[in-house]
Amino acid sequence: MTRHRIMVLGAAGQVGQSIQHLASHKHLPENWDLSLFSRTECNITNPSMLRDAIQRTNPDLIINASGLTNVEHAERDENLAMATNFHAVAQMAAQCSALDIPIIHLSTDYVFDGREHTPYKPNDQMNPLNTYGGSKMMGEEALRHEHPWHVILRISSVFSAFRRNILTGALALIEEQEELRFVTDIVSTPTYALDVAQAIVTIGKELMLGKADGYGTFHLTGEPIASRFDFVEEVMKAYEPFTMRRPKLVATVCAEFPDYVRRPPYSVMDCAKIKATYGIDQKSWKDGIRDAISILHNAGRTPRMPR
Ligand SMILES: NC(=O)c1ccc[n+]([C@@H]2O[C@H](COP(=O)([O-])OP(=O)(O)OC[C@H]3O[C@@H](n4cnc5c(N)ncnc54)[C@H](OP(=O)(O)O)[C@@H]3O)[C@@H](O)[C@H]2O)c1
Repeated sequence: MTRHRIMVLGAAGQVGQSIQHLASHKHLPENWDLSLFSRTECNITNPSMLRDAIQRTNPDLIINASGLTNVEHAERDENLAMATNFHAVAQMAAQCSALDIPIIHLSTDYVFDGREHTPYKPNDQMNPLNTYGGSKMMGEEALRHEHPWHVILRISSVFSAFRRNILTGALALIEEQEELRFVTDIVSTPTYALDVAQAIVTIGKELMLGKADGYGTFHLTGEPIASRFDFVEEVMKAYEPFTMRRPKLVATVCAEFPDYVRRPPYSVMDCAKIKATYGIDQKSWKDGIRDAISILHNAGRTPRMPR
C-alpha cells in the first residue's frame, strides 16, 4: 500500500490535538505517516521556517489546523491576525501549488455577517464583521486564487477536551462562580473538534485516493442551533454528575457587554454539500459535550464526584 506523508500545522490546537487523539486510538488510515508541527516547530508567520518545514517534510497532503483564533486578540493585533490567517495561508497555497499537493484548510462562520435568517451556503456572500473574520476571509481568497487543490472547511464554535474553549471555559466558570451570564442573542451551531478531525480524515483519505470532485469550500458544524446560553445550559446538565457546584445560569444579551467585539448574530451554516460530496453527517454537539467531559474525567481533570 502506498504510504502518505501528512503534514499537520497547528498540531497543539484543539483540532490538531483531536487529530492526535484519533491517531493514538488508531483511527487514522494505516498508510498515513503524520508529521506534526506545533508553533515551536513551525511558526507559520516566519516565511523561511514555513518554507523549510514544508520542503523538509515533502508532504502528500497539508492539513492547516493553525490560526490566530482568539477574536479579541485579532481585534487588538490586526497585523498578527493577517500574518497568521492570511499571509501564511497564501504562502502555504503557493508551496502546495509548487509541489502539486492538496491542502485541507480550516475556516470559520465569522466570514459571514449574520444578517440572514436561513443557513449560509458555501457560495454565499462573505461580509465579515471583525478582524478575525476578515483575516480568515483573506486566507480563503488566497487559497482560491493560488491553488485549486484546496478544501476549505468552515466550522463554527469549536469545543473539545483540549485547551481553553467554550466548553472548558464554562466548566471553569461553574467551578469558580455563583452566577453565570451568557447571551441568548447570538446563535450558531457548536462543533465538536473530534468530529472535525474525523471529517478531515474522511476527506484526506478520499483526496489521497485521487477524488477529483472533492475540492472547494464546505461547511461542517454540529446540530442543532444554539445560543451560548443554550450551550452552557447543556454543559451544566452533562457536568452535574461530576461536581457539587450548582451556580445560577442567567440569560443576558450582547448589549450588556459594550466592549464585546462584533460577532454575527446568526451564523448557522448549511452542511448539505459535505454530506453530498463526502457522506459526512452533522453530529449532535450535545453528544460531543458528553464525550469531551468523559475524556476530561478519564484524564483525571474533573473535580470531585458528589457525595
Ligand atoms: N475555535 C473556534 O471556535 C473556531 C471556529 C471556527 C473556525 N475555527 C478555525 O479552526 C482552526 C482550528 O481552530 P482551533 O479551535 O483548533 O484553534 P486553537 O485551539 O486556537 O489552535 C490553533 C493553533 O494554531 C497555532 N498557531 C497560532 N499562531 C501560530 C503561528 N504563528 N504558527 C504556528 N502555529 C500557530 C496555535 O499555537 P499555540 O498552541 O502556540 O497557541 C494553536 O496550536 C483555525 O483555523 C480556526 O480559525 C475555529
